[in-house]
Amino acid sequence: MTGATGTVYGVGVGPGDPELLTLKALRLIREAPVLAYAAAAGVPSFARSIVESHLEGLQARVEIPMVMPMVAERFPAQEVYDKGAAEIRDHLQAGRDVVVLCEGDPLFYGSFMYLFGRLHGAFPITVVPGVSSVMACAAAAGWPLVARNDAFRVLPATLEDEALRQQIDDAEGLAFMKVGRHLGRLKALLADAGLIDHAVYVERASLPNQRVVPLAALDEDRAPYFSMVLVHRRGGAHVL
Ligand SMILES: C[S@@+](CC[C@H](N)C(=O)[O-])C[C@H]1O[C@@H](n2cnc3c(N)ncnc32)[C@H](O)[C@@H]1O
Repeated sequence: MTGATGTVYGVGVGPGDPELLTLKALRLIREAPVLAYAAAAGVPSFARSIVESHLEGLQARVEIPMVMPMVAERFPAQEVYDKGAAEIRDHLQAGRDVVVLCEGDPLFYGSFMYLFGRLHGAFPITVVPGVSSVMACAAAAGWPLVARNDAFRVLPATLEDEALRQQIDDAEGLAFMKVGRHLGRLKALLADAGLIDHAVYVERASLPNQRVVPLAALDEDRAPYFSMVLVHRRGGAHVL
């Protein structure tokens, strides 16, 4: 800790496998006097579960769970972040560092954004990048994402059909996040674009229950929250 106040560390904990933590993340997590993390109501925090085995045998620390109400889209409840940020502020003002655990990478579609927005400028913030789910899904599927002059787009599957259609046409490589209940609609759009055979579905990448299925062979129209669809116009970036 430097100066009178503590520092906020936004620490990426990777996509699920506890071995996909960086050495820096591991050190900060093990030394943290205060750990903060988001969790859906009634479900253990995914980010905390990733680091759980690394906390064994350590002295107890203060924990700040930011519990989200159960809503279909897991849309962040701003009041939860207001309350979390207020608790974090108290620790920082008392000179204690706070490590915020973030799934994947903190600055890539991460809820850390909401704390960052509330705390930056007032307190020192250090971000430790993490292995993002896009990279983990590509690795799980053995799916070369992009090469040479290929353009790559990351799209939330929650976008409207028309927005998705336009952007699908604009890139060689595509990653669709937040697939969930949009899986059926996404399959139809990719079939229309002639890309259904050039797409792979990845569920819970890097976890023991990981699942990888060619999209064309997938019967379901809904997917769990931790799932993604990867597409390449040529069937893979390695195809010339
Ligand atoms: C709010 S975003 C968080 C992204 C995270 N910050 C990152 O860098 O990967 C959540 C979305 O990431 C994707 N995701 C996260 N972890 C995943 C995993 N282990 N396997 C597949 N998709 C995952 C899913 O598309 C999910 O809907």
